[in-house]
This record gives sequence, structure tokens and C-alpha cells, in this order.
Amino acid sequence: MKILQSLMIVAALCAATALQARPLDAIRQDGTLRIATEGQYAPFNFFQGKQLTGFEVEVAERVARQMGLKPEWKALGFDALLTGLQQDRWDLVIASHAITDERAKAVTFTLPHYCSGGTIVSLAPALRSGKDLAGKVVAVQTGTTYLAEVQHLPGIKAVKNFPTDTDARSALLAKRVDAMITDRFVAKELLRRSPQSGFQLGGMVTVERIAAAVALGNTSLADAWSQALKAVMADGSYARISQKYFQEDIRCP
Ligand code: ARG
Repeated sequence: MKILQSLMIVAALCAATALQARPLDAIRQDGTLRIATEGQYAPFNFFQGKQLTGFEVEVAERVARQMGLKPEWKALGFDALLTGLQQDRWDLVIASHAITDERAKAVTFTLPHYCSGGTIVSLAPALRSGKDLAGKVVAVQTGTTYLAEVQHLPGIKAVKNFPTDTDARSALLAKRVDAMITDRFVAKELLRRSPQSGFQLGGMVTVERIAAAVALGNTSLADAWSQALKAVMADGSYARISQKYFQEDIRCP
């Protein structure tokens, strides 16, 4: 009896201290969906003045509305986003995360909201494929899938990490690195916005399915999000937002 009692106390204490992700019921009761993103990854999530915007921000707002929820945004360093889910600092992350086995051990992914891949960007038209990066110094953003991908390329001289994609870009412009890897659509937008920069678009080195993430096992929320995303993809609003940013529909085939 005594043992059982103390076990129950231990269990109660654990339950009280463990931070639980909010399941869908709790979120519905509250009425707001706390969404975290980076805000430094145009055209997916970025600031226009003080206003957070971008393809992912607009899609997420549409999906939240479809779920009957009010989105409440937080913008943070890319590296902090997924861990914050476990600590219940926000309910969902949407920041161009590719679905990987590694990440799927730590978070639960929703249905993907677009498909893309990592592309080589450089100032040298000769750097076209992964092979051309042999002997080169390549920049990637810390915490991205591109790091592991680049490290696997044979003959890479060095990989340099930068806190944001923009920092990697600056290093490239300053010729502190030979090339960088970034998302195909981010790279296209970069070339469109600064045609004078001399940036050259190389080939794709990865193919990725990009999705939102919730705390590991928070399936009620993940499922509700995926259902709402499907509806938004079916009613024409996804296509409209995608056309606005990319002049094409970037959903996964
Ligand atoms: N797609 C890449 C990844 O999954 C890069 C994502 C970068 N996102 C960002 N908001 N900076 O790691």
C-alpha cells in the first residue's frame, strides 16, 4: 500500500513537471494556434517592415482560419524552432523544414505544403553539380538538411555554417566561400530580386518534401492541420497564394 502510494506521488509529480504539448482540444478551447517560424527566409517566411509575411505565413493563416483558429506568430532563430515544440513554447512550426527520418524521431510532421530541393548558388557559372563542388568551400545555414547533404559530397574542402541564409549569402558575395546551398525557390527569388549581384544558379543537390511540425505524438493537432491544408489545397486558395509568390503551383506531386 505504502509503495503504491509513493509510486502514485512520483507519477503525479512527473505529470506536473513534464511540459505537455497542447492537444487539439486545448487549442480549440483557447481559440489561438501558436505558430513559430524564422522570418528570415524569403519568400517563404520574412518580414516586410514589421510585418511577418511570405508564402508559408499566408498558407498557415489560411489553414488556421480553416481550422477555426486565430494564428499567433512568433519569429525565432531557425535552430530554436523544433526544440520549442517539446517545451510547449508554441504549437506548430512552419519554416521550410524537410521531412527527414532524423527529425521525425523528435517531432511529428504534417502533410507537406510544398516540394523543393537544395540548389547550388555561386558567383561562378562553372559550379553546376555536386561534382563541381570538389575542392570548394561551401556555405549552409546552421541546422538545415543541406549541411549533411554537402558533407556527403566527395572532395568538399570545407563546409561553413551560418546562423541565417542571408549570412551565408553575404559570405558568398564577400567571396569568403565558393558556393552556398539553399532552397531552389529561395535562390530563384534571390536572383529575381538582385539581378546585378552576379549570383549563378547551379543544379539541385537534394529533393525535399517540406512540412509543418508539431510536438512528437501530437497527432490530434497534426491530423487537423493536414485535413485543413487539404481543404485549402482543394478550394483554390493554396494555388492563388502559390501563384502570387512563385508564378507556379509548388505543391508536391
Ligand atoms: N529545407 C531546409 C531544411 O529542411 C532548409 C530550411 C531553412 N528554413 C529556414 N526558415 N531558414 O533544413
